[in-house]
Amino acid sequence: MFTTEFASHVPLPTHRFPADFRWGVATSAFQIEGAADVDGKGPSIWDTFCRRPGVIADGSDGTVACEHYHRLDADLDLIASLGVDAYRFSIAWPRVRPTGAGDWNEAGLAFYDRLIDGLNARGIQPHLTLNHWDLPEALQATGGWADRATVQRFVDYALGIAARYGRRVAAITTHNEPWVMAVLGHEAGIFAPGIRDRAIAAQVAHHLLLSHGLAVRAMRAAGCSVPMGIVLNLSPTVPATDSAADRARALLEDGRLLRWYMDPLFHGRYPVDILDDLGEQAPVIEPGDLDAISVPIDFLGINYYTRSVASAGAPWVPGSSGLPLTDMGWEVHAPSLTELLLRLARDYPVPPLTITENGGAFPDACIDGRVADHDRTEYLAGHIAAVGEAMRQGVPVNGYFVWSLMDNFEWASGYAKRFGIVHVDYTTQVRTPKASAHWYRRFLQHQQALR
Ligand code: NOJ
Repeated sequence: MFTTEFASHVPLPTHRFPADFRWGVATSAFQIEGAADVDGKGPSIWDTFCRRPGVIADGSDGTVACEHYHRLDADLDLIASLGVDAYRFSIAWPRVRPTGAGDWNEAGLAFYDRLIDGLNARGIQPHLTLNHWDLPEALQATGGWADRATVQRFVDYALGIAARYGRRVAAITTHNEPWVMAVLGHEAGIFAPGIRDRAIAAQVAHHLLLSHGLAVRAMRAAGCSVPMGIVLNLSPTVPATDSAADRARALLEDGRLLRWYMDPLFHGRYPVDILDDLGEQAPVIEPGDLDAISVPIDFLGINYYTRSVASAGAPWVPGSSGLPLTDMGWEVHAPSLTELLLRLARDYPVPPLTITENGGAFPDACIDGRVADHDRTEYLAGHIAAVGEAMRQGVPVNGYFVWSLMDNFEWASGYAKRFGIVHVDYTTQVRTPKASAHWYRRFLQHQQALR
């Protein structure tokens, strides 16, 4: 799969990471699997949402994606060829339990048996995520995450998954990026299920956090001893200028993005300024909910891509600060990752942190079987060094996963935005490791040699 001569010349980060630090690559079910209605899979809210005219930039959907469902063995070999310790993937809830409750689908469950066993056979740790956004459509029909009953449905699903796979995986994550599901899905309406209602979004966020805590408790009570955690999308929020108005805005945005999740998880309470800001739109919180949410966890997953800039006046223009931008229009600023990690360790009693996603979309061209993604390679090198710097300053970080193993369905952006370190030709499904994949492999070999 690899030719050795095609290596990028971006220098390898010099930080020596601990021998038990886990290096990996990440994906999620809906973004790569395809096989949307194969072998008894039920529809998810993303299958339904993609059919709404105009919501996906290129009009695409997840019906075929990377055909990972049908190319599992070759993709497992591809992952192994990178030399990673770990692979982060998600289970499609409607593949294993088509209506979200009721009957389990043995064919769907068997697919994840093959995935997990195939990883273990290759010496790669499986890191399983229960919910990477593809809620069974049948549960949306009864109210989705806005309905408190969905919390119990998720706990039941988690228990079934832990019973089936709990002895064969290295980590279980409950939810991926609750802020995205709540705010982009239920307030901005640009992600599934496409609802625009701030009160509903706040209730959804609460139910996601509650279901996280109750699921961790239930899985542990059932005897599952795998490390468990949740994954948040976090960034430092900086004011666009030093004006009092911009600084106040940055504090508010930080509250909505970071403290709204970190405070209940680690302090057992919601931030008062954000509750005040929500006013009548604040969620219904029942006695005992915050105890459940703040259940101790074994790791906190952090997905980091960019910093966030807050402005009280005219919207801040990405790029106006002179930093380079990725193809998503996101600023490249690795020191913000160090800053974020230091702040989390300072303000919260955090368990070990795992960088569960980091990477960039760039407009790659595959020419003669080669993708010279120098920009992505530099991005990865800079951010890995930023993690090393936070660790040097005492922050406990235990792993780093590149987003993503391969190009895939980038939600509302469709297939136009490419995050992979492996290029996917969507006509032929040919996978081509980019220069960044060669570089990452070389970097991992170097770290291995230091162990
Ligand atoms: C975070 C999400 O978890 C993942 O699904 C998405 O593709 C990346 N961000 C890039 O936007």
